Amino acid sequence: MFARSAVRALAQPSARLFSSTASRNFKVAVLGAGGGIGQPLSLLLKSDHLVTGLSLYDIRGAPGVAADVSHVDTASEVNGYAADQLDEALQGANVVVIPAGVPRKPGMTRDDLFNTNASIVRDLASSIARVSPDAHILVISNPVNSTVPIVAKTLEKAGTFNPKHLFGVTTLDVVRARRFLAETVGAHPSETPVTVVGGHSGPTIVPLISQSPRGNEVKGEKYHALVHRIQFGGDEVVKAKDGAGSATLSMAYAGAKFTNSLLRGLSGEKGVVTPTYVRSPLFEDQGVDFFSSNVELGRDGVEKIHPLGPLSPEEQKLLEACLPELKKNIEKGKNFVQ
Ligand code: NAD
Ligand code: LMR
Repeated sequence: MFARSAVRALAQPSARLFSSTASRNFKVAVLGAGGGIGQPLSLLLKSDHLVTGLSLYDIRGAPGVAADVSHVDTASEVNGYAADQLDEALQGANVVVIPAGVPRKPGMTRDDLFNTNASIVRDLASSIARVSPDAHILVISNPVNSTVPIVAKTLEKAGTFNPKHLFGVTTLDVVRARRFLAETVGAHPSETPVTVVGGHSGPTIVPLISQSPRGNEVKGEKYHALVHRIQFGGDEVVKAKDGAGSATLSMAYAGAKFTNSLLRGLSGEKGVVTPTYVRSPLFEDQGVDFFSSNVELGRDGVEKIHPLGPLSPEEQKLLEACLPELKKNIEKGKNFVQ
């Protein structure tokens, strides 16, 4: 859906979408805009007509990226901010997207990034709490299972945590699942939507293939191979990039797609539902208080957290493997801020 609207927007600066659904102006800040994800994400956000202001911040390179992206002929205004200008970058932001932090190299897990990225994310969250406490925060930095609880705890300590405004971006898992299922059954990706629940690392990624219209065509070994590819799709890219980082372009696409869904919800569009990792009651009784499932996005962010729906016996097993791992990741994040 994003791709079609983005292409239309690029082709037609005064696209219908702009006048019919944009009931507000949205300023979006990208923290980490100079990076592998940040640059293409900034470009895609520049081509989203729901974005009217784009604020690009990084500890290096953001003014250059902003100057470049600002020449794209869409209406939004772009500003770049240097390392000492975080407060200015956050001023008036409705949405803050965070891809700041280090990516994996071959042989590393996402959890191996914790030591570096936890403090980056915590410090950025402190600034958001102070400068733009009402902003909707979209966390891309890994390990997402832990960085989202870190942001929540940091905001909680500052007295500004609103669970309706905090999202872990798990859209890349959804994008991959749709694409890989389409390849497996020989269909167009539009016919193979897949809800992916849980978290964003290996066994915490739980694709609900049985709920997809073409999902039940995949059985036995093929099913297990498909699940494995969705759970470990990130490793495929890390290995192919051979030390030069992890997924950036597909992640920028996924990040822009999720941002567009959120902005459509904030604009008042009804029925915008997509998986995202949020403060969730679904498995709270098992000590898992952050979980990704289908979430309806509305004028104030999280409108409704949907239950998982019917699971196959295989999916039930995947969920059982996910929950204890996710619980550990969440506790690790929370303990970091204590
Ligand atoms: P990158 O190294 O190319 O870019 C990261 C950027 O963050 C750099 O430009 C760096 O200067 C900047 N940065 C570092 N500290 C900062 C700070 N305090 N404030 C502002 N900017 C800061 O890395 P990348 O490939 O863009 O990946 C970024 C993160 O996204 C990694 O943690 C990666 O694991 C994660 N990621 C998540 C997903 C997902 O599905 N959620 C997908 C891919 C990558
Ligand atoms: C991904 O899923 O591609 C990202 O989380 C990056 C990674 O480390 O694999």
